[in-house]
This record gives sequence, C-alpha cells and structure tokens, in this order.
Amino acid sequence: MIQAKVAEILESDQFLQEHHIKGWVRSFRSNRFIALNDGSTLKNLQCVIDFENTDEDLIKRINVGAAISVKGTLIESQGSQQRVEIEVTDLEILGDANPEEVKLTILSPKKHSMEKLREQAHLRVRTNTFGAVMRVRSRLSFAVHKYFQDRNFYYVNTPIITGSDAEGAGEMFKVTNMDLKNPPKNEDGSINYKEDFFGKETNLTVSGQLEAETFALGLGQVYTFGPTFRAENSNTSRHLAEFWMIEPEVAFCDLDQNMDLAEDFIKYVLKYILKHCKDDLEFLAQRQENEDKLKPKAERSDMNLLDKLNFVLENNFKRVSYTEAIEILKNSKPNKKKKFNYIIEEWGADLQSEHERYLVEKHFKCPVILFDYPADIKAFYMRLNEDGKTVRAMDILFPGIGEIVGGSQREERLDVLKEKMAELDIPEEELWWYLDTRKFGTCVHSGFGLGFERLVQFTTGMGNIRDVIPFPRTPQNAEF
Ligand code: 4AD
Ligand code: MG
Repeated sequence: MIQAKVAEILESDQFLQEHHIKGWVRSFRSNRFIALNDGSTLKNLQCVIDFENTDEDLIKRINVGAAISVKGTLIESQGSQQRVEIEVTDLEILGDANPEEVKLTILSPKKHSMEKLREQAHLRVRTNTFGAVMRVRSRLSFAVHKYFQDRNFYYVNTPIITGSDAEGAGEMFKVTNMDLKNPPKNEDGSINYKEDFFGKETNLTVSGQLEAETFALGLGQVYTFGPTFRAENSNTSRHLAEFWMIEPEVAFCDLDQNMDLAEDFIKYVLKYILKHCKDDLEFLAQRQENEDKLKPKAERSDMNLLDKLNFVLENNFKRVSYTEAIEILKNSKPNKKKKFNYIIEEWGADLQSEHERYLVEKHFKCPVILFDYPADIKAFYMRLNEDGKTVRAMDILFPGIGEIVGGSQREERLDVLKEKMAELDIPEEELWWYLDTRKFGTCVHSGFGLGFERLVQFTTGMGNIRDVIPFPRTPQNAEF
C-alpha cells in the first residue's frame, strides 16, 4: 500500500491501487462523502465510505476539522466534481473535532472576515485561501534560493541582534536583558548599558546590508534572506514590524548592473511560481475577482492576477530618474476625484505612496525603477553622484504594492563616506568595521533589499500584508 499525498493521488491513473492517506476532514456529506485535505494541494480528495457497514459511532466522529486516517482503493469517480476518488476500506479517527466547538472557529464552513481569520492565525492555514498563500510563499522562498545558488551567490546569515542601525532611521526595537523597571543608571541618570548583556545598546536588525557588504567584499556575490524588524508605527496594508528581507550584495557591480539583477531576479521567481503553483494561483486569481466584485470600481484590479504576473514577466521595467519623475508629477493634472493628490512642489521632496502609485499605475502602467534620488532623503551609505546632490539609489515600484525593492550602489570612497557620516552625526567608532572595508581593497559594489512579504502580496494578489505572513507582527498585536 502506498502512503501518498493527496496532490499525487489526484494526478494518478493507477486505478485499483491501494492507498493510505492521513489528513483533515473539510466536509462530510450524506454520511458517505468525506472531502479530505492533507495540505499538499488546494484540492480535496473525495473518500467514499460504505456507511451501511461502518460503525455508527465512528460515522458520528467524522466531523469537519477532525484528523483521520483512510485506507482504500483508487477508483474513477462517478461524480462530475472529481476525476478520481477513494473507496474506503478502513477508516480511523486520529484526532476528534467537536462540532459545537468547531462552530465557534474559522474552521466552520462559512465565509469569515479577514479580521476574524487573523485572530485565529493558528487555524487559518487550514482554509483554502491561506493554504494557497502559504504554499506559494514556501515555493517563492525556494525560488529565491534557487535563483542565487544557481548563479553562485553565497547565502550569508547576518546578525539579528546588532549594535548598528543600518538605515539610520532610528526605527529599532531595543534588545536588553536588563530589568527596565529598575535599570542600572549612570551618574547623570541615563541608563548604564555597560551593565547590559552585550555591554552596549543593541537592537533587532533593520537590515543585514552593512554586514552583507563585508561578505561581498570577500566572497564576491552574496545574499541574505532573513527576518528584519522595524518599529515604525505605520498601520498600513504594506507594513509589518517583523518582515523578511532578501538582500543580495555584489562586488564590482554598479547601479545599472544592480537594476539588471533586481529585474532579472523578480522575473525569475514570478516565472517559477507560475510554473510550479498553477492550481493555487488560479484559485487566488478567482478569489481576487470575487473580492473585486464587492469593491467600488476605482479600487478594483484592472487585470486578472495571472495576466498581471505574465505582464510583469514580459515587459521591461521602466527606468526613470527621480528628477524626470518629479517633472512628470509636476505636469500631472490633479485627479478630479482627489484619489491621487500628487502635485509635488519641489525637487528634493520624498515621494509619498500616492506619487509612486501615480507613476506606476496611471503614468507608465508598468513596474518602474526610480534612480538617482536626492542625497538628503536617502541613507548614508549610498554613492554620491558627480552632481554632489543625488545618490546612486534605486527603488522598484510595483502596481498595487508601491515600493517593493530599495537598493543602491554603495559609497566606496573612504573620505566621502566619512564626510557623510560626520554630516549625519554617525560616530566612526560605531562603524569602524564598516569603514575598514573601504580601507582594505575597496571597490565599486551594489545591492538591494526586497521585502519578501510585498513580493508574496504581489504574487498572490492579497490586499493586506498581514495575510501573507504566518503570524503577523503589527502594532498592538503579538498574540502568538
Ligand atoms: O528600502 P529599505 O528600507 O532598504 C533597506 O533596508 C536597504 N538596506 C536594502 C539594501 O540595499 N540591502 O527596505 C527594503 C525593502 C523595501 O523596498 C520594502 O519592500 C521592504 O524592504 N520593507 C518592508 N516590508 C514590510 N514592512 C515594512 N515595514 C517594510 N519596510 C521595508
Ligand atoms: Mg526604501
């Protein structure tokens, strides 16, 4: 007897083959038809029991949510809903699910709001939508590793706990083992971090970039793929306090090559998913269409999910300098319905998400790479251009998502870097190791960070970033 996953059995044409399957009951009809799901696919396997010869007490325990073990024979199904089914010869309840209690959970077979599903994040993976999203997420992470490993990038694990703020934005979660109600103090009343476990102030990392740079300048081309943390109090559908970031870093690579890499990488992983997650994507596309019908016209997606993914694959990302983008925004007419209020007064302003959305969704109607941003609105490590006021930065903007990638060519000149750090009051002592990379064999190098959840959002068409990560971390929420 073969112990197989539902995904394989549904594809099989080995009729009369005996199978042993374990999974969870999704539905039970007419005291005969069990829809069994084992997580391997979106689809359920119909298992038909001979109820006349099955113990009544056992039948009573075949409830939605229960874990069961089924042995039986693969046959052609008489029903129109499925090609094959299992004629059950042996059934065992492995874990009961009390129907009265199930009714109170999201396992009950009716439509639940997304908020309700989030409250039961430990159960929502058993629903069709989350099962599909989580399978796509898992395959996407595999595709990320495959892309880089196939191209001889080395995977580097950068620290989670760190003493530096890579982005200089001060959006860090502090880490300490001190009793914060009664911390050791200095004479001036400030907290004495020398008494801390690490002997200094530390935080959860906001980005592994600076450490990845040190590795790129030894291994040539590397990437990170790990959790990052930001204490930005942004209650949006695009922000998490804990998210996963992919950060490649490449020596002897300039900004143009960095853009090429980012575009090629994104297209590769999307292509991979289109090939390997067909069923789940089709289901998610249908789901998005259904959701859209409930929305006002202006908020509906203008393309089917699969068409959108193919569109991104088949078209070049539009590359535009920040200065050109500002000109476009200045010349844009304000939207009558005030959906976008995108008038930008001055060169130098940071782009708001409505500006980004205008450029991507209204003006270019395709993914956009914006580059050469004003130095003042970007991080300290970006390479200064010859004009002395812009830096070799790039952001990739996606329809419906906004910024999906942030990257740059790094400032490799020790003197220019030091000057910039002084300007921003970043003490050299704190980043002495980073400065060393510019002292010993410095070179042109570049990299970028891609927010993994934003990629999963784009790929699955999910509207809220909280619904593409198993256990979302957002303000006022750390139940699990
Ligand atoms: O643009 P960011 O801040 O860039 C960096 O951290 C660089 N050190 C990356 C690098 O060059 N190695 O963040 C990179 C990406 C963003 O484009 C976005 O996709 C994602 O990380 N991101 C978030 N995703 C979810 N929730 C948040 N709060 C995010 N903040 C950034
Ligand atoms: Mg950014």
